Parts: sequence; C-alpha cells; structure tokens
Amino acid sequence: MIVKSLKIKNYRNLKEVELNLNEDLNIFIGNNGQGKTNLLESIYVCSIGRTFRLNSENELINFNENKSIIEASINKNNYDLKIDLILEKNKRKQVFFNGVKLDKTGEMIGVLNNVIFTPDDMKIIKDSPIERRKFINIDISQIKPKYKYMLNQYKKIVSQRNNILKNFYTNNSNKDIINIWNDYLVNIGTELIYYRNDYINNLKKYAVDIYSDLSGNNEMLDISYKSNIGNINDKDKSYIKKIFLEKIEKNLENEIERRVTLYGPHKDDLSIKINGKECKYFASQGQQRSAILAIKLAEIEIINKEIGEYPILLLDDVLSELDNSRKGYLIKYIKGIQTVITTTDDNDLKNLTKNYNKNFYYINEGKIGNITN
Ligand SMILES: Nc1ncnc2c1ncn2[C@@H]1O[C@H](COP(=O)(O)OP(=O)(O)OP(=O)(O)O)[C@@H](O)[C@H]1O
Ligand SMILES: [Mg+2]
Repeated sequence: MIVKSLKIKNYRNLKEVELNLNEDLNIFIGNNGQGKTNLLESIYVCSIGRTFRLNSENELINFNENKSIIEASINKNNYDLKIDLILEKNKRKQVFFNGVKLDKTGEMIGVLNNVIFTPDDMKIIKDSPIERRKFINIDISQIKPKYKYMLNQYKKIVSQRNNILKNFYTNNSNKDIINIWNDYLVNIGTELIYYRNDYINNLKKYAVDIYSDLSGNNEMLDISYKSNIGNINDKDKSYIKKIFLEKIEKNLENEIERRVTLYGPHKDDLSIKINGKECKYFASQGQQRSAILAIKLAEIEIINKEIGEYPILLLDDVLSELDNSRKGYLIKYIKGIQTVITTTDDNDLKNLTKNYNKNFYYINEGKIGNITN
C-alpha cells in the first residue's frame, strides 16, 4: 500500500502543502520546529482519525484559521482510494472515503494502514501499563475492526459494573445483578484477552528475530502478555473464561471495598525484556529504542500478513541514538516498504541510502520543497 500524494491545508503550521510521495523512501529534512512531525502526523490522522500527540482536534487546525483539510490519495491492492479529512473549529470532524461521507470516523480505520515510530513511543517501555495497552489496542484495531467494537463494549461494561460496586450494599438486588455483569465482563473480556495474547505472540515471532539481527546477534528480546487473572498463555477461550470468572467471584468483597473492577484486560500489561532483564529498568536508551523499533518492524510484517500489503511506515527522528550498524540494518530492512522519515541531519541518510529509490524534501516554516539530488 502506498500514499501517492497529499494535499494539506491549514494543518498546524502546514498552511498549504501539495506533495507527491515516492513509492519507496521519502526523507524530510528540517531544523527543529519546522513542521516535520506535523507532516507525519497529518498522514497518521488520515489513518485513524486522531493524533498520537496530546492535542484536542481544535489544536490541530492552524492557530489563525478555522478549518483544516487533509486529502490523501492511496493505492491499495491496485485500487486508487481517497481519504479526505475536514477539521473545523468546534465542529465534529468529517471523513470522506472515495468522496462518500462516513457516518463514524471509526469506519476509516484500516483504509490507510500505517506503522508509526516517534520519540514518544518510548513511552511504551518507560511509562505505565496504560501506554502499553493503548499501543496494543491501536495495533489490533487496524487489522481486526471487530476488536475496537468489543473494546468499547468492554469499557462500558467495566464502568457499569463499577457503578454497582460503588453502591453495592444500598440495594439487595445487587447480589443478583452483579452476576449478570460478571457474565458480560467475562465473555467480552475473554475475547479481548485472547486477541491480545494471540497478537503479542505473533508480534514476538517476528520481533525476536528482528531484534537479534538489529543487535548483530548479540542480544535477545523477549515480549510477553501479562494478564492479572493468571497465566493464560497457550490456553483456550474456555479455560480463560473459567479462571477469569473464578478470579472475580473470589475477589468480590475486595472489589466492593475498593469500589472498582480489579481483574480483567483493563488491567493487563506487556513485559518487554532484553537478555532476560526488564527493558524499563535495565536497558540503555539505544537498546530501548531498538526494542521499540523491532516491535514496530514486526507490526509491519503482521499487517502485511493480514492484508497482503505492507503499511506505510512513518519514522520520526528515529536514527538518533542508534549506532551505525543499527542504522544500517534499519535502512536495509525498509527497502521496498513506503517510508516517510524525518531528520534534522541528513548526512547519515545520504550515505545509507545511496542505491535507494528516494525523494529528499526540505521543510522550513511549514513549507516543503523537493531537493533534487
Ligand atoms: N495549531 C497550530 N497552528 C500553527 N502552528 C502550530 C500549531 N501546532 C503546532 N504548531 C507549530 O508547529 C511547530 C512544530 O512543528 P513540528 O512538531 O512538526 O516540528 P519538527 O520539525 O518536528 O521539530 P523537531 O525537529 O523539534 O521535532 C511549532 O513551531 C509549533 O508552534
Ligand atoms: Mg519533530
């Protein structure tokens, strides 16, 4: 899958941009604060309808304007497709797929597949389990639209169940009602746990080899899914359901006291280790970055397996902190996959991509130009 061209109007500092992208490598060079991440973000927004940064929709529109438009022309499985996204201050965003307005923005997910790596992704290792769950959720939603629906259902169930736990003893019928909510929780929760565990095992299959190559066969990566209902690896759905139900039935008093649902996929986590040691506490900056990179490259392989085409790869300032051999491996890996890469310093990339089909662009105060080379 490739993005053939982009038309951007008033997206952050990108006032008016029209770009034809190279089907292989696109390198955007610019100083700090010129709009490189904004450009990657504009492609990402056409993929899942929202930003990966901590901004409200209004903040994505240029400070001095009320409306922003992004148009992405895509070629997927030899079909030309188009996504148009319109953001208007204090209004609901509008998404058009091939000119037809979508009822829900969620329907766009899966059209423009992408894998993005930004410096913020280090949060997946460094921050709380919330970041790791967010990462898993976005990934699985791209390839399994049903997952996102189930996730929303599950969130509603947890919130309803929490309401009952909060006022448990004020109403005698709650003893019966909680059993109904337990069933809902366990049924949908089991599906989520199963999907997540399966996805992580798949990711691991690719990421372990990629990391090993990336580190010159010197280091070993391990990833595993951690559920707080117990060890569910290699277990079938009926087993997961059984231990999930047992866990919440056994801990009901505890939950009533704490007034929240304590067990289930809303509490699960991911363990990422290098050479047997948890990355979060023991890995160096470069090793952490390499681990995330290996996971992202593994994601590309999973998407390719699922949809039969590689997604577009968005790499924001990824080369810093990687040593030369890791940089070289990355650049070799992405050959043949449409990639947009941003950098403040193009010296490394110029050397590493000598025989590549590529476009260089400069970006300055939100204006983009081609560099002929
Ligand atoms: N809504 C907006 N309207 C106008 N400008 C904006 C808006 N939001 C952000 N900006 C501007 O965009 C610029 C940042 O762009 P961006 O994050 O793409 O920089 P960058 O080129 O990636 O820089 P770095 O190399 O530091 O990562 C900032 O100058 C910021 O003021
Ligand atoms: Mg940036």
